[in-house]
Amino acid sequence: MPPERTALNADIRQFYDVSSGLWESVWGEHMHHGYWEAGEEDKDPRVAQVDLIVRLIEWAGIERASAVLDVGCGIGGASLYLARRFGAEVTGITLSPVQCKRATERAHEQGLEGTVRFEVADALEMPFADKQFDLVWSLESGEHMADKAQFLRECYRVLRPGGQLVMATWCCREGELNERERRWLEAIYRVYCLPYIISIEHYRRLLAEVGFGGIESTDWSRQVARFWELVIQSALSPTVLVEIFNRGMTLIRAALAMQLMRQSYKRGLLRFGVLHARKPGVR
Ligand SMILES: C[S@@+](CC[C@H](N)C(=O)[O-])C[C@H]1O[C@@H](n2cnc3c(N)ncnc32)[C@H](O)[C@@H]1O
Repeated sequence: MPPERTALNADIRQFYDVSSGLWESVWGEHMHHGYWEAGEEDKDPRVAQVDLIVRLIEWAGIERASAVLDVGCGIGGASLYLARRFGAEVTGITLSPVQCKRATERAHEQGLEGTVRFEVADALEMPFADKQFDLVWSLESGEHMADKAQFLRECYRVLRPGGQLVMATWCCREGELNERERRWLEAIYRVYCLPYIISIEHYRRLLAEVGFGGIESTDWSRQVARFWELVIQSALSPTVLVEIFNRGMTLIRAALAMQLMRQSYKRGLLRFGVLHARKPGVR
């Protein structure tokens, strides 16, 4: 593995090892944006997070799945949801041993230990044979991948013919970024352990190069941007602030960078990309 990827993976692992317990106590099992349509401003953020999963399934037209890979599974919020919704066997992978342990505990608590399992594994070198899954699901993990093409190649490899990839990921706007925008994004990369992000169009091109067909995409920035206002509010509660300080610089920096995220959506620099594609062949 190239040394810069080893270092990035170590940073990602440390970030989620340190932050996941606090996130769960404040925000619950989902470590991703919520979904709000206009007029839904009163919707509870935890409901909005589940809505994002529901909307993704509807938008991609997923009607059934029997073997699911949740790439970047966090503490298993979506994995457990997908197992219940489709009666599917689900495998979740994360770089964080703390997340893996907690996700496994949660599967036991919910009586799903027979159908859902979690592993510490790198999405760029997945420890799975070819053609194992009929749905690969990646909810806010693509932005962490050091090599986006390799990530998509791995998703393609482990999918059965006819299998589907659904992903939602942080993207940047299309077109050449100016120096100020690049510096702005670099500040976000440093705090949230991201190597770089790409545009939705760029993902579409990579998906096509890897061999995927039926590529569809959309931009849900407007529907998810409200999330950061709510995260900032929750971080200002005295008990959460104390916890952030107790956990050290990683989380202090992450808390300070929330404003950067909010502003990036306002400026149209950051985009919430949603993509769906299919591996050619018959299922
Ligand atoms: C923002 S969290 C999203 C968690 C989960 N999908 C959710 O929505 O609740 C990002 C996740 O991606 C995982 N991740 C990042 N890079 C990864 C990699 N190279 N291989 C596997 N997992 C990775 C992290 O460990 C973490 O679980």
